[in-house]
Amino acid sequence: MNDEPNCCRPPDGEPTAASAPVPVWLVVLTLALVFLGAVYFDRHSGWFDRQVFAPYSSAETLAFYQPKSGAAALAARGKSVYDSVCGICHGGDGLGKPGQAPPLAASEWVTRDVNSLARVPLAGLNGPIQVAGHEWNLSMAPMGAGLSDADLAAVLTYIRAAWGNQGSPVSEADMKAARAAISGNSPSAADLAKMTPAERGHAVFKKYGCFQCHGEDGKGGVTNPNAKTAEQVPSLVYVADGYNQAELIAFVKRGERVIPRMNPNGPEPPHFMPKWDPIINDAEMSDLAAYLFSLKPKGEKLDF
Ligand code: HEC
Ligand code: HEC
Repeated sequence: MNDEPNCCRPPDGEPTAASAPVPVWLVVLTLALVFLGAVYFDRHSGWFDRQVFAPYSSAETLAFYQPKSGAAALAARGKSVYDSVCGICHGGDGLGKPGQAPPLAASEWVTRDVNSLARVPLAGLNGPIQVAGHEWNLSMAPMGAGLSDADLAAVLTYIRAAWGNQGSPVSEADMKAARAAISGNSPSAADLAKMTPAERGHAVFKKYGCFQCHGEDGKGGVTNPNAKTAEQVPSLVYVADGYNQAELIAFVKRGERVIPRMNPNGPEPPHFMPKWDPIINDAEMSDLAAYLFSLKPKGEKLDF
């Protein structure tokens, strides 16, 4: 009977496993390590970016919604001006359109000095010109003359950095200087205040280069090969007979992209009537209409 408890005992000398109390120092050390680990994890934001909170999931999405400042804001503003004013002709991809406008991507005109570049949207450009090794012989009206210095700086900064172009940014001060150099003899605000609407309208006609296509004082005569209107850009002297004020303003805003051809099978006439809508503001438009109506020779009003 009393042998029983010894039945399973290993022979003397074999090591035995028995439970022993965990030493206090080990418990303390473990807790200390867990605590330090938690502090470290917390300090370093675990697997999360400490700038990012719900509902945003990553730093990139967050950056997308941040208010843009400096260069990024300028480029975003420039892209929207480009899309509404320049892209119609030069294309959203900056590659231009055959027979309509040369490319801005890889164009030496775009990355040259700011004053020469600014001259194009402010004063317009008449061919023949070379762009990236190809000749173009069209004409661009001063499509940027109605933009503020800030918008013009933004759009030029945008085209100088888009599509692989590598030009320096353009500042508002650069634009102010370029505009002053170009429109040296355009009337001051004080002069404009003293003028009649028709006189102000004449200044608008010059500012936007309408004369480049319609001739000095709107008398016409600029050749437009294969245009139905006697292969010329039409004279504006008699618009008072064909339009009332609202119709005239609506037409100038809309423009006319497709010019009727003299010979239907011949080439597209190179000059078309640009769309002036976002470019010329409402006050300028009504002055412009007053000017165009004033062109009709006085005596002829009695002919009816
Ligand atoms: C109605 C069409 C039209 C619009 C709108 C237009 N352009 Fe042009 N642009 C042209 C044409 C046509 C030429 C080529 C003129 C020539 O042959 O001399 C040109 C030439 C240029 C050139 C020099 C040549 C080149 O390709 O680099 C620049 C720079 C330019 N445009 C910038 C602009 C900017 C900036 C805007 C917007 C503010 C703008 N253009 C809006 C038609 C347009
Ligand atoms: C790039 C050349 C060009 C420029 C710049 C231009 N026009 Fe025109 N415009 C034309 C052509 C071409 C026509 C003829 C449209 C047609 O045959 O349908 C036209 C037609 C017109 C007509 C209608 C004439 C009629 O008898 O029905 C008016 C008005 C007019 N333009 C006003 C202006 C004003 C104002 C400006 C300046 C803000 C201007 N245009 C700038 C090319 C131009």
